[in-house]
Amino acid sequence: MRARICGTGSALPRREVTNDELSKIMDTSDEWIRSRTGICSRHLAVEESLTALAARAARQALSEAGMEAAELDMILAATLSADKLLPSLACELQRELSAERAVAFDINAACSGFIFALQTADAYIKSGQYGKILVVGGEILSKLMDWNDRSTCVLFGDGAGAAVVRADSEFGILGSVQGSDGARGEVLMCEDRKNNNPYVSNTKDLSYVSMDGQEVYKFAVRTVPEAILKATERAGISVDEVDLFILHQANIRILQSVSKRLKIPMEKIPMNLQTCGNISAGSIPILLDFVNRRGMIQRGNKIVLAGFGAGLTWGASALTW
Ligand code: COA
Repeated sequence: MRARICGTGSALPRREVTNDELSKIMDTSDEWIRSRTGICSRHLAVEESLTALAARAARQALSEAGMEAAELDMILAATLSADKLLPSLACELQRELSAERAVAFDINAACSGFIFALQTADAYIKSGQYGKILVVGGEILSKLMDWNDRSTCVLFGDGAGAAVVRADSEFGILGSVQGSDGARGEVLMCEDRKNNNPYVSNTKDLSYVSMDGQEVYKFAVRTVPEAILKATERAGISVDEVDLFILHQANIRILQSVSKRLKIPMEKIPMNLQTCGNISAGSIPILLDFVNRRGMIQRGNKIVLAGFGAGLTWGASALTW
């Protein structure tokens, strides 16, 4: 048995903010952001919670899968920006959806989070322990941004995506790869609240996302092609046989570099970073849902999902739809 995706969903906050709007509140320009990243606008949560966005995405995915929430064995939520430290986003979702039977927990692998959660679902399904799993990836990253740091805050957006997976003997995940390199974690980080027990002195303020953009860029253009090659090799297919590559939406130049290195035509690498920016763990499931809803994937197609992010972490899965 393997995990087959049988329904997808996505939800973006209502408020869309263009580069031009950002240039009114900070020293940046549409030209700079667009030429460096491909991003034109992003959605930022003003009134929505992450739980509400994830629940909207999850309901769409369940509906397409023809499954009731009560049937779910497990909910895995990939996020680094849950509404609460406790309980987890997955448990909040379980309550929202009334998925009483489900075991629910979060996974934090930053922008690789959805891939890691999907691979975890696949492992549970392969073990025979569970058969029906909701995998969600979503973020409200705007709360973790330093809005005085133009080099990071213009890159990211908010939103959530979901996929329902079920055990299947024929279709589904064929081969996967994942990796971590904690020794290089400082190139993309965000510290949490400081210890404030009575025995420590602590005056430091809350921290926001900080990034060495060029180091992350170099890491991404090397790691993503390697991960794609390994995942397809494990799946027993060639890169040429893959119909679509659903890649983490961080920067159009990274996607163009992957295309060049692996000789993949850009038509096989769909994008929504133009209007979404980088939504970390939400990026891949939201794009997957966009593509699915536009009828761009047919049953039996070969798809590769691949991402990279803080940790550092990276992963890829090759699957049949
Ligand atoms: N608007 C205008 N100017 C900006 C700016 C902004 N929003 N942000 C930075 N700049 C300026 C810098 O201050 C710098 O100015 P200086 O030369 O006077 O010092 C200049 O633009 C160039 O900055 P640099 O960091 O060299 O740009 P870059 O070409 O490396 O592009 C990134 C920056 C972040 C777009 C690029 O490094 C990148 O995409 N990296 C990967 C990031 C990523 O994928 N992160 C997600 C991981 S999941």
